[in-house]
Amino acid sequence: MTNKFMYFVANWKMFGDLKGLNSLNDVIKFAMKNKRKNFKVIYCPPSTLIFPLFKKFKNTPIDLGGQNSHESENYGPYTGSINSKMLMDVGAKYLILGHSENRQSGENDRLINLKIKSALKIGLKIIFCIGETLKEKQNNKTNQILSNQIKIGLNGIKNKSKIIIAYEPVWSIGTGLIPKLSDLNSLILFIKKKFKNKSQKILYGGSVNENNINQLKTINSVDGFLVGAASQDAKKFIDIIKKTFN
Ligand code: PGA
Repeated sequence: MTNKFMYFVANWKMFGDLKGLNSLNDVIKFAMKNKRKNFKVIYCPPSTLIFPLFKKFKNTPIDLGGQNSHESENYGPYTGSINSKMLMDVGAKYLILGHSENRQSGENDRLINLKIKSALKIGLKIIFCIGETLKEKQNNKTNQILSNQIKIGLNGIKNKSKIIIAYEPVWSIGTGLIPKLSDLNSLILFIKKKFKNKSQKILYGGSVNENNINQLKTINSVDGFLVGAASQDAKKFIDIIKKTFN
């Protein structure tokens, strides 16, 4: 059992529609009932659902976040893009940046750095994803990759108090595989050491579900979980939170 403050971030990716939002009534009930407990729930739905959810979550302790944004904090002629200011305007407080699915489609550490700076300037809190691919892991490059992602991604950012790190091994996302618990614990400690602030928050993400949470919650160094597929099912997501504290 943990008494520690924990984050539970639901990353819906490109899933979800208006008619599915009623399934969140149970999550709202659960969050209201446990208002004083030591956790924060953050939903990061597709941008189209941020405002409807903002209305739905009004007067609840649940917060909202975006899943990516354009690096410019100003409006501009960027067809198809959304920036941090727009996300904040419709109710987002957080923003996932550096997710491997976006890195795979061309985002590099420098661009992620610009996005982080712009979102911080606007006033969003950042959930900054880092993680190695299977090949990098097999070549014993994990530590080096994580160090570089942190170094370049956070370059020039002095105040890191609005940044939460999400360690997500790419080979674990959507595969049902999770790291060995001892490896995960040492990697999270390795990441923590890179920060002056000893209470830097580090989440784990990658195939977190209602079955493996009992193992994952034993990692003392972790400050919460970034949950993809399992977060689309309200019951499973509530189960993950409940089991973390049991
Ligand atoms: P998953 O996704 O839980 O479906 O593996 C996690 C993520 O990509 O953030």
